[in-house]
Amino acid sequence: MTSFTLNGKPVTSQAEADTPLLWVIRDEFKLKGTKFGCGIAQCGACTVHVDGAPLRSCSAPVSSVAGQSITTIEGLDPEGRHPLQIAWVEAQVPQCGYCQSGQIMQAADLLRRKPDASDDEIVQHMTGNLCRCMSYTRIMKAVRLAADHLNNGAGGAA
Ligand code: FES
Ligand code: FES
Repeated sequence: MTSFTLNGKPVTSQAEADTPLLWVIRDEFKLKGTKFGCGIAQCGACTVHVDGAPLRSCSAPVSSVAGQSITTIEGLDPEGRHPLQIAWVEAQVPQCGYCQSGQIMQAADLLRRKPDASDDEIVQHMTGNLCRCMSYTRIMKAVRLAADHLNNGAGGAA
């Protein structure tokens, strides 16, 4: 058994200690927003936050997050109104949508730490999150929009 906090609520997983966190999130706790892409920490589709830092949940055993605080796309903002989520809609980013929760979680980490990130810093930070639909231009536009909203004081907390 592994106890941790999931989107603000204390939970205890019954899964074996070496079960990937991704499957605990999806199958045990029924939060389906976090996706399985490659399973080997190479695509970013499974990105969640652990104590505020991004983690590829496909490659992390659940036992490694004992006592820590996990945030998934469902918990990023209680109303689904994180500045990135607003910008994502504004820029109409998704195509198939499969990679998008991982993209947003990765971007949220950057904007929390560096809301004034430059375009180069955004590109560098997002480079490991793959999109088979090639929505990269719109992802860039949306992260820029969210950062600009934050810097203008119009977007709430990242
Ligand atoms: S599914 Fe985890 S990085 Fe690809
Ligand atoms: S929108 Fe289809 S994989 Fe990114």
